[in-house]
Amino acid sequence: MIELYAATKRFRSSGGVHTAIRDVHLSVGSGEFVAVVGPTGCGKSTTLSLISGLEPASDGRVLVHGRPVEGIPDGVGYMFQNDAVLPWRSVLDNVAAGPRYRGTSKREARDRARDWITRVGLAGFEGYYPHQLSGGMRKRVALAQTLVNEPSVLLMDEPFSALDVQTRGLMQDELLRLWSGSGAAVVFVTHDLEEALVLADRVVVMTAGPATIKSTFTVPLDRPRNAEEVRLTPEFLDIYREVWDSLREEVQITRERGTGNAA
Ligand SMILES: Nc1ncnc2c1ncn2[C@@H]1O[C@H](COP(=O)(O)OP(=O)(O)OP(=O)(O)O)[C@@H](O)[C@H]1O
Ligand SMILES: [Mg+2]
Repeated sequence: MIELYAATKRFRSSGGVHTAIRDVHLSVGSGEFVAVVGPTGCGKSTTLSLISGLEPASDGRVLVHGRPVEGIPDGVGYMFQNDAVLPWRSVLDNVAAGPRYRGTSKREARDRARDWITRVGLAGFEGYYPHQLSGGMRKRVALAQTLVNEPSVLLMDEPFSALDVQTRGLMQDELLRLWSGSGAAVVFVTHDLEEALVLADRVVVMTAGPATIKSTFTVPLDRPRNAEEVRLTPEFLDIYREVWDSLREEVQITRERGTGNAA
């Protein structure tokens, strides 16, 4: 579904050229959930931008559905850290916007939106506006907004990082429930190693910037998983330690560079 071969991205900056990611090799199959972790500023969001076609690669190849990415490929859903919920639209109209944009009739778009609003647990809130919802509820709207388009490739950039710990756990469970059986290939970027391990089949550790893939771990936890329970198991702690050993060095390098912008 997603293939990156030696993908490299350079940005022109005032001081010359800045390499954000270099030689990234990654392939994600249908129905596979991959989490990407790495220190702040290393190039995680840039990796998603290449897959989604928002930015072209400077070198290497990026394929989605076996075709080189040029512009935004069909079937790609993108959930950003800051959700794209529009404040002046009701929950129903926010969720129906995607299908409408894709040419679905108003009636059918609204029917599909209602169905997804129910699936994310917001039945009864169709007529509410975003400011009338809690942060967790807005994330549910954003999730419905993304999933209503039935993406075969789902890109998520720290979608739950602004939420409190309990709401986050709930959203992780919701996501697993909604994704399971959908066949979607997921790339989920997060700072939070615990979140990565709770959700993913594989966890990819990126180096300090310019990011390349340092190591990949298979998560040996059965599905279906319960976000709150799985993190208390001995298997979880073992894999956590193993991945953290790899990630810690990169976080350290980034810290030693100081300034927090990791340039
Ligand atoms: N459009 C752009 N133009 C110039 N530089 C950019 C652009 N996008 C990203 N960069 C630079 O590329 C590097 C990687 O940025 P990116 O946003 O991919 O990091 P990240 O790993 O997602 O960070 P964080 O964890 O803080 O979200 C940074 O140094 C950033 O300043
Ligand atoms: Mg980012």
